[in-house]
Amino acid sequence: MRIFITGAQGTLGQALTAALESQHEVVGRDIDALDVTDTHSVNTWIGEGRPDLVIHCAAMTAVDYCAEHPDEALTVNGYGTQAVALACQASDAALLYVSTNEVFDGLTDRQYLEYDAPAPANPYAYSKWVGEQMVRDLVRKHTIVRTSWLFAHGGKNFVQTILRLARQNVPLRVVTNEVSSPTYTTDLAAAIAALIETRQYGIYHLVNEGYTSRYGFARTILDLAGYVDTPIEPIALAEYQRPSRPPQYAMLRNFAAARLGITLRPWQDALAAFLEVENAKHEQAG
Ligand SMILES: NC(=O)c1ccc[n+]([C@@H]2O[C@H](COP(=O)([O-])OP(=O)(O)OC[C@H]3O[C@@H](n4cnc5c(N)ncnc54)[C@H](OP(=O)(O)O)[C@@H]3O)[C@@H](O)[C@H]2O)c1
Repeated sequence: MRIFITGAQGTLGQALTAALESQHEVVGRDIDALDVTDTHSVNTWIGEGRPDLVIHCAAMTAVDYCAEHPDEALTVNGYGTQAVALACQASDAALLYVSTNEVFDGLTDRQYLEYDAPAPANPYAYSKWVGEQMVRDLVRKHTIVRTSWLFAHGGKNFVQTILRLARQNVPLRVVTNEVSSPTYTTDLAAAIAALIETRQYGIYHLVNEGYTSRYGFARTILDLAGYVDTPIEPIALAEYQRPSRPPQYAMLRNFAAARLGITLRPWQDALAAFLEVENAKHEQAG
């Protein structure tokens, strides 16, 4: 398959490129070469390149920045997705859009299914939900993959931040009432690669199995990394002032992909595997 990836230098874009390039012809672009809000460039790239599939990872993902600049978030995540969707429609390319658990309001006591109604509660979430609608309305062969709390090698993410603060002996305060599924980009990319092969379009929730709070995630990171004696002060979301309000209980359940035989291992196993790779890298480096 000829696969184009937007946001290819991002956290997930890199993992997807690595997972797909041995089996497919993969062409990735990031904002330096393709701004998805530039409709002319998007049309030219997709219209002339004629991909079988576009995986749309490009997004404004800094949730606090989005909260403070909602129009910018809507321009990139909503309008930019519309541009990609229209170009796919014109070329009859399939489109896989990566979305987020944040499209749900988090006011539940069970894991969200693919078929539940989104109710975005912050500007980032709203802009991603607008993107979902563009993809559903405009592209015949569309797939929406919702995921959450990605961690990856390189770049900045929750795992790296907790470990860095622990190494620096910075006191840790982590919220107990924000709950979701930590997900290893390597596992997610492998699941997306498998999903693509099925050509079963639709909405999918792909996350490592199980869920935890930010506090539980941080505690497990420290324990697995050997910082068992490093304390963490549990706090409530209300005590952690930030511009964006995340949904509290936005756990995703993989129902649809599991019916196709596509499942991800438990998040604790994924985290242990991730830390093993990180340790090996550190040992090699020094
Ligand atoms: N990270 C998570 O925990 C998470 C959870 C659920 C869903 N998702 C979704 O998964 C997808 C991939 O996320 P990620 O973690 O890989 O994000 P990321 O690391 O921030 O990657 C997104 C990429 O898109 C680029 N970009 C931003 N604006 C653009 C534009 N106008 N045109 C083209 N490219 C643009 C970014 O460039 P700059 O870095 O230069 O801005 C970045 O390279 C996103 O759609 C996100 O909403 C992520």
